[in-house]
Amino acid sequence: MKRSARAIARANIALAKYWGKADEAKNLPAVPSVSMTLDPLLTHTEVAFAEGLDADRFVLGGQPAEPAETARVTKMLDRIRAEAGLSLFAEVTSGNDFPTASGLASSASGFCALAAAARAAAGLPFDRARISAMARAASVSAARSAFGGYVELPLGQPGDDTHGARPLAEPSHWDLRIVVAVTSEGRKAVGSTSGMLHTERTSPYYKSWVELSPGLAREVREGILARDLPRVGVAMEQSTLSMHACGMAAAPYVLYFRPATLAALECVRALRDNGLEVWATADAGPHVKALCHARDHEQVAHALARAEGVLRTLIASPGEGVSVE
Ligand code: DP6
Repeated sequence: MKRSARAIARANIALAKYWGKADEAKNLPAVPSVSMTLDPLLTHTEVAFAEGLDADRFVLGGQPAEPAETARVTKMLDRIRAEAGLSLFAEVTSGNDFPTASGLASSASGFCALAAAARAAAGLPFDRARISAMARAASVSAARSAFGGYVELPLGQPGDDTHGARPLAEPSHWDLRIVVAVTSEGRKAVGSTSGMLHTERTSPYYKSWVELSPGLAREVREGILARDLPRVGVAMEQSTLSMHACGMAAAPYVLYFRPATLAALECVRALRDNGLEVWATADAGPHVKALCHARDHEQVAHALARAEGVLRTLIASPGEGVSVE
């Protein structure tokens, strides 16, 4: 007997950032976040539950995954097996259409595609809210890739297994672009999970961050609904820089910025000083992502490509939520 399914999920970018956990064991966010799901940054994942396997197998980008990565996959599959009453191990094959070191979280699209494909392969009905909650348990940002367009993920209540994201607006609601300024090809030195846990434990600014975040997430949310880019942009930059400042004040410091990150941030500000509506964000890495109107993206990409230390640029637009084939 073989049960298999394939799913496609897209990466997402947080416009209001998640950083910090309300419940570490259950992986629940301490702050609300708001995101845009990104086209064409796709992860394809196939899950096949099959007889004759003595453990789950995970092939990522054509290579057997590291044991730690396979363990994270097994953790999610165990929950799906329990829900579906299934005892078979699975073969999981996953690949990204975009480079892993592109500065866009492949873990978000990866865990979301895995949740959708594994649930379908196990015979569970397609349910975005369930997929989102399951993806969130593996990686909080992955919860948001379940939905398309603009998405919000409220802060979590400790112990809540069902916590997931919800849709805010369709991709067609607002034609924005994200211009990614790639500033390094290597993998980041400190992963987001360890960076945020260390920040939580040692940064004197963490409490302020948790207090500030809901207001910023509300601004971003209201700005999206009103299609008010300056409102979204100002709150997004404050969310980004507050998150990074919080990490910088940890002991020892967590610093994701590189000289090219600052050059790209300055470039975005200079474009704005020249009258363009463009704002910047950066995740747990050195890359800068600029948010602008669709009509302005070529001008933004052209300027960012010339900023000191920027290697190349990528363009993304609002994309659809996860789907099962
Ligand atoms: C800076 O979702 O990767 O990208 O839940 O520990 O897996 P875990 O963290 P993860 O953190 C993402 C942090 C961020 C901001 C964001 O995407 O909201």
